[in-house]
Amino acid sequence: MQHPPRKIIIDTDPGQDDAFAILLALASPEDVEVLGLTAVAGNVGLNWTERNTRIICELAGKPQMKVFAGCDRPMRRDLVTAEHVHGKTGLDGPVMVEPTMPLQSQHGVDFIIETLRREPTGSVTLCPLGPLTNIATAFVRAPDIVGRIAQIVLMGGGYFEGGNITPAAEFNIFVDPEAADIVFRAGVPLVVMPLDVTHKALTSRARVEAFRALGSTVGRVAAEWADFFERFDMEKYGSDGAPLHDPCVIAYLIRPDLFKGRHINVMIETQSELTRGMTVADWWGVTGRPANALFMGSVDANGFFDLLTERLGRL
Ligand code: RIB
Ligand code: CA
Repeated sequence: MQHPPRKIIIDTDPGQDDAFAILLALASPEDVEVLGLTAVAGNVGLNWTERNTRIICELAGKPQMKVFAGCDRPMRRDLVTAEHVHGKTGLDGPVMVEPTMPLQSQHGVDFIIETLRREPTGSVTLCPLGPLTNIATAFVRAPDIVGRIAQIVLMGGGYFEGGNITPAAEFNIFVDPEAADIVFRAGVPLVVMPLDVTHKALTSRARVEAFRALGSTVGRVAAEWADFFERFDMEKYGSDGAPLHDPCVIAYLIRPDLFKGRHINVMIETQSELTRGMTVADWWGVTGRPANALFMGSVDANGFFDLLTERLGRL
């Protein structure tokens, strides 16, 4: 029996991998109803991430989607960006035309608060794909919304894989560790896609050529984003491809059976500069601290790419 689509808000810092996640969501209306997309500063500045979010919605043929600009810097720290991975625009690779769809005038944080207060309790899932600044700021401004959230399914952190921006920390958590600490302590049911699982969702020549073989503009652009995005990770890790981090979040909503993980306690390091942003994941249950997250460790990579490619083929 088909369940009604899950209502979601995508919070994002595009980023080529964010783009794959957004395209997957917009191609899957039977699974997810995207209530809106809130941009946050992360991979690149907010002026780029909000523009990029609109570009991706137009590429998907959804210019009616509501896109909001959220926070332009972390709660307490200076912004750290990742142009070295994603390029100056954050969507380097193919040349993209400037978006014509409007940016909503409402602040992204206010949209999150207003939506959660309006929709029935337990009916909205938050899908953060970047630093958690917008989410945590909404929690601070409107604590009443915390109990109304069905689930937060986010990309961030790492345990067995360590970090990707420092030896200890993954980028999204590193950029705004205070925000992550608020979110991980809030008591909202969390599903976490850390590097431990996203580093198993690797592109390959065959997988990228399958995007290109779709023969559509979306397929071509997706392949060119992957071609650009993978060069950094292939050089750093010596791998044959790059991890498509963020679409793991949306794929979980559609096919949770593709993923395996454990309910464990995860806390965020905010004090030490050496390990700032580390997700201290109690995978072996040694702390006695209560589990607060389903922390993913593995994915059926072939099933993931088959799903992603099939859905991109719809656009
Ligand atoms: O560390 C990977 C994460 O940081 C991904 O979400 C990528 O888009 C960047 O935001
Ligand atoms: Ca991202």
